[in-house]
Amino acid sequence: GLRKKEVNVLCLGLDNSGKTTIINQLKPSNTQTQEIVPTIGFNIERFKSSSLSFTVFDMSGQSRYRNLWEHCYKESHAIIFVIDSGDKLRMVVAKEELDTLLNHEDIRNRKMPVLFFANKMDLRDAMSSVRVSQLLSLENIKEKPWHICASDAIKGEGLQEGLDWLHVLLQ
Ligand code: GTP
Ligand code: MG
Repeated sequence: GLRKKEVNVLCLGLDNSGKTTIINQLKPSNTQTQEIVPTIGFNIERFKSSSLSFTVFDMSGQSRYRNLWEHCYKESHAIIFVIDSGDKLRMVVAKEELDTLLNHEDIRNRKMPVLFFANKMDLRDAMSSVRVSQLLSLENIKEKPWHICASDAIKGEGLQEGLDWLHVLLQ
């Protein structure tokens, strides 16, 4: 058959935001795991879509491992940045990490797409994706295509919309 285009996607965001849960939902159901544990360091996951072959770097969001993120920037073609929409207290920390990422020399001048998941939209006190994008000042991102989706990674809601957006840009 046709060779699928290989794309490397970096999945970032604070610990407990739902990165591993999201990636697990994107994998074929026969390779999904039932029990998701906090990521130590990082995991590499591979799955295919109709025309793309994805390699996803699922990074730990714990502060002690966040220094690993930058080692993956050069090889990445796209970023998925996950936010816990219910975690109001740490939204400033998420913004700090996002700003550091976007200002990094390996990221700054590239037109790579950034997909945001405002995850845990099922929580009663979750912020809307509009509110999350305001708090993260996403309108200031001029040099990269970006998109934000509200998601519930446990039910799998909102994930396909995000992946479809990414798919068009990476093809
Ligand atoms: P690290 O690996 O530590 O960086 O965390 P992570 O971002 O990979 O988070 P993980 O996927 O391990 O999820 C953390 C917790 O949030 C787990 O208990 C998940 O079940 C839960 N969770 C993930 N997504 C959702 C969601 O959309 N809604 C709710 N209510 N809980 C979620
Ligand atoms: Mg994880």
